[in-house]
Amino acid sequence: MWNTFKEIKLSAPSSTSGMPRFTSQEKAVPRKLHEITSETSSRISTHFVEMDGVYGGGIVKGSVSLIAGDPGIGKSTLLLQVGLHIAAHTQGDAPVLYVSGEESEQQVKLRAERIVGNMRSTQNMSNNFLLVAMTNTDEIAELITTLRPAFVIIDSIQTVSSENAGGLSGAVAQVRYATAAFVQVAKTHGIPVVIVGHVTKEGMVAGPMTLSHMVDTVLFLEGEKETSMRILRSLKNRFGPVDEVGIFMMAGEGMTEVGNPEHIFLSKQTAGAPGSALVATLEGTRSFLVEVQALAVYTKLPFPRRVASGTDAKRLELLLAVLQKHGKLPVESMDVFVNVAGGLKLTDRAADIAICLAIYSSIKNISLHDTIAMAEVGLLGELRSVSGIEKREKAAKKLGYKKIISAKTHKSLWDVIQSIGTGKDKNG
Ligand code: TYD
Ligand code: MG
Repeated sequence: MWNTFKEIKLSAPSSTSGMPRFTSQEKAVPRKLHEITSETSSRISTHFVEMDGVYGGGIVKGSVSLIAGDPGIGKSTLLLQVGLHIAAHTQGDAPVLYVSGEESEQQVKLRAERIVGNMRSTQNMSNNFLLVAMTNTDEIAELITTLRPAFVIIDSIQTVSSENAGGLSGAVAQVRYATAAFVQVAKTHGIPVVIVGHVTKEGMVAGPMTLSHMVDTVLFLEGEKETSMRILRSLKNRFGPVDEVGIFMMAGEGMTEVGNPEHIFLSKQTAGAPGSALVATLEGTRSFLVEVQALAVYTKLPFPRRVASGTDAKRLELLLAVLQKHGKLPVESMDVFVNVAGGLKLTDRAADIAICLAIYSSIKNISLHDTIAMAEVGLLGELRSVSGIEKREKAAKKLGYKKIISAKTHKSLWDVIQSIGTGKDKNG
């Protein structure tokens, strides 16, 4: 039938990969090293010491970073604060641009008012902070090009889309297209751009994490929604350290930084209770004291339960086998639950001995209140030394813990158990 055909416009293929084409007219000319000025080394401060540290001394101009994390963990709040901070301190007329694809301008304004209540609002802050609700990738890139802001926040990458890329917003093609577009404007004009991406822990490799190779820096904001602790961690950083962490607390008026975080994962209520053991863990270049809690109870189940939260379940299985063989503990007939207090994810092998001790302490109903443990436990029940031992010891001593258990003080798990059981300790 006639009239049933619709005209379909084929959009001109922008490039074979579906990425925006480079519009820069400049020809690349090879240059000698000394001719290259290191513009990349100029950084702008987020005015959060903790966050600047994670970036390696502030955000590099012209760099693109992805801030990933669970929905609702506080990414928008943190970046809004950073944006307001930068606006308050920028000289000249280059504004801060906050592009919101998730919330209306009114919603973001309400949030900003809550936050500003906690900051000294200045003339600069209100004049230099521009807010726009937009979702069209190409229009956003164009706006950045004409506005030339000092700093750009895109919140979030999942909400922007372009007709030049396939799929709905949030689809991999859209996310990659948008990232390529923002990388291009950032590099061309030397504007630092921060992109928000919602990522669940399970989706670490899918979704926005597929764009991690396209950006310069990937930061992850983690924590548990029930607690106020937030950890900002760098997973990738072309211009600074990786694995560095910044510690924040989520309060009513936005995020506040935690200055001396050594003790932040400790709770006073449970310190020294049976089933509790402390480890000095190393995150980036800093050491924190973290409480590991365990509960071990006899069970009639043919396959006793092993539940690990905040630590690796496979590692727990292994440590239980070592406890059974080399610690002579009847864990094969016990349900064992292990939990890391404060919402930190413990991947540090130094926590091995603390996990073992927490379980031992639960079974024997003894208190380890004055002890800090830090060692990897091997399959033969031997203690192995861990990196950064001096930093860990320093953190422990700073908070008044004198009894330290490490590969320096004890040879094996059995050694440790005996010294605790008999009340004697080789450490003094
Ligand atoms: P949000 O920054 O919107 O998270 P994300 O952008 O990562 O999805 O934070 C959402 C939660 O934070 C919300 O439940 C309310 C809470 N919140 C505070 O506790 N304090 C505050 O100052 C603000 C603005 C939000
Ligand atoms: Mg948000």
